[in-house]
Amino acid sequence: MKTIFSGIQPSGDLTIGNYFGAIKSWLKLQGEYNCFFCIVDLHAITVRQEPKKLREKILEVLAIYIACGIDPEKNNLFIQSHVPFHSELSWILNCYTYMGELSRMTQYKEKSLKVGESIPVGLFTYPVLMASDILLYNTDLVPVGSDQKQHLELARDIAERFNTLYSPTFKIPEPYIVENSSRIMSLQNPVKKMSKSDENENSYIKIMDDENVIKRKILKSVTDSKGVVSYNDDQSGIKNLINILISITGESVESVENRFLGKGYGDLKNELVEALLSELIPIQQKVRDFLKNKDYLEKVYKDGANSASEVSYKVLRKVKKKIGFI
Ligand code: AMP
Ligand code: TRP
Repeated sequence: MKTIFSGIQPSGDLTIGNYFGAIKSWLKLQGEYNCFFCIVDLHAITVRQEPKKLREKILEVLAIYIACGIDPEKNNLFIQSHVPFHSELSWILNCYTYMGELSRMTQYKEKSLKVGESIPVGLFTYPVLMASDILLYNTDLVPVGSDQKQHLELARDIAERFNTLYSPTFKIPEPYIVENSSRIMSLQNPVKKMSKSDENENSYIKIMDDENVIKRKILKSVTDSKGVVSYNDDQSGIKNLINILISITGESVESVENRFLGKGYGDLKNELVEALLSELIPIQQKVRDFLKNKDYLEKVYKDGANSASEVSYKVLRKVKKKIGFI
């Protein structure tokens, strides 16, 4: 079985972008691959987090993974900071990564602009930690969105460099583009990706938003003045709403266009609200139930960390030997 590794930062509330773009596509992989789905809390502290909120979010992301159908019996679900080998390999790989490479990372350039003058070093070396996550598990495939492709390429470069300097040690990971995976756009500016860190709350829908909020955000979403429900790049708002709808229902674009012939944007939005509620409400209920069952969550993340440690320890040991550590 091939190995898959992916992770989400517990640095805010997960949006339907994370759901349709990441978590839902992971569901198709379980069973066919040996999957590690990590909650990357070490990555989250590259920007300031409030301890109480971070603690809550880590467990919430775990509960969301499980509530969305990621089976902890079939997959490895764990919290990054519970497996110390990530930090350890990250230090080592920092010594095999160049300043120039990290300076070229688009996400670093964007994020460092946002934090002002005091840029944490962690923000700069973030991609090295991500490379360590991936390389520790002999990962074959990494499901990532287009924004993470550059980081994955760097992980490959670092691995190849190490393998050339010593001898083959790391497996070289490939990006895994999930078929039909959807890129969900901002509801307020549909040429921009929907993001949990957007300042405008109306631009995203959280997986845990309540009914009225979901309804309000969809009804308020930006469209255009054409008045025709048609799927094209000139109508990016409508295109995005159709994309969200078909991510839920599996209907084809043509069929949606045909059904809405002669109908208005209000009809499309109302139908989308209903579809979203029927998808999200049962998940939200399950998340709340899991969050009440802390013992169960604890068992899941402890088991996850134990088996993740077994695999990653061996890789790290090999790395240390090759370098010349005793
Ligand atoms: P992030 O929220 O940036 O930590 O992203 C975690 C995962 O969710 C990554 O695999 C992203 O590619 C995916 N993701 C985040 N936002 C979206 C979006 N708007 N559309 C599709 N996928 C997304
Ligand atoms: N950097 C990724 C993001 O922001 C999260 C992440 C951390 C990740 N480690 C990873 C994704 C390893 C895939 C594999 O989306």
